[in-house]
Amino acid sequence: MSLMIGDEAPDFTANTTMGEINFHQWLGNDWGIFMSHPADFTPVCTTEIGRVANLEGEFKRRNAKVLVLSVGTKPGMTPLDSHREWIKDVNETQNASVEFPLVEDPDRSIANAYGMIHPNASDTLTVRSVFLIGPDKVVKLVISYPASTGRNFVEILRVLDSLQLTANFQVATPVDWKHGDDCVVVPAIATEEIPGKFPKGHKIIKDYLRTTPQPNL
Ligand code: BEZ
Repeated sequence: MSLMIGDEAPDFTANTTMGEINFHQWLGNDWGIFMSHPADFTPVCTTEIGRVANLEGEFKRRNAKVLVLSVGTKPGMTPLDSHREWIKDVNETQNASVEFPLVEDPDRSIANAYGMIHPNASDTLTVRSVFLIGPDKVVKLVISYPASTGRNFVEILRVLDSLQLTANFQVATPVDWKHGDDCVVVPAIATEEIPGKFPKGHKIIKDYLRTTPQPNL
């Protein structure tokens, strides 16, 4: 059974390029982005990790920590040496400075716990998985991309914004929502409660479709 939204994110203790971590302790009260990629020293992965490094300020601003896993490390090197050598290439070619940890997983126990290996795609490499994990250590988003398609990290930040708006202000975000657009009042809030909870105003389009300006602006 693969990991699903609402499940507790499996905890683990493992070595990373920035020292040993216990995942839950390391996350603390922050949000987590735990992502896998197929292999070190591959082109699409190189662009992705550089992009995440260049967006690091955006993740920090949202109190989110990034952890990266790959079991596709360079033969003849330890997993951590492979990650460290490859990061030099990422920094050089993507004009980046990777400041988040890459974890080793020599027995694939972490990849298996998170369902990051899809055996019918490859039984040796992780796919491009992303798990967004809340401060409660519960999985909030699961996505899987194929090896040949680099992910869109602006979309991942958008989902993080949406999740944080829901957690903090009881609003959801409608189709194609972007920062600054109106939000949707969650169904759990009775229409009579809306004026008290959303002083910026609201619109009632249907009794089940109520909108309000983005509350945290
Ligand atoms: C890449 O990162 O470029 C890649 C990795 C595995 C398969 C295909 C592409």
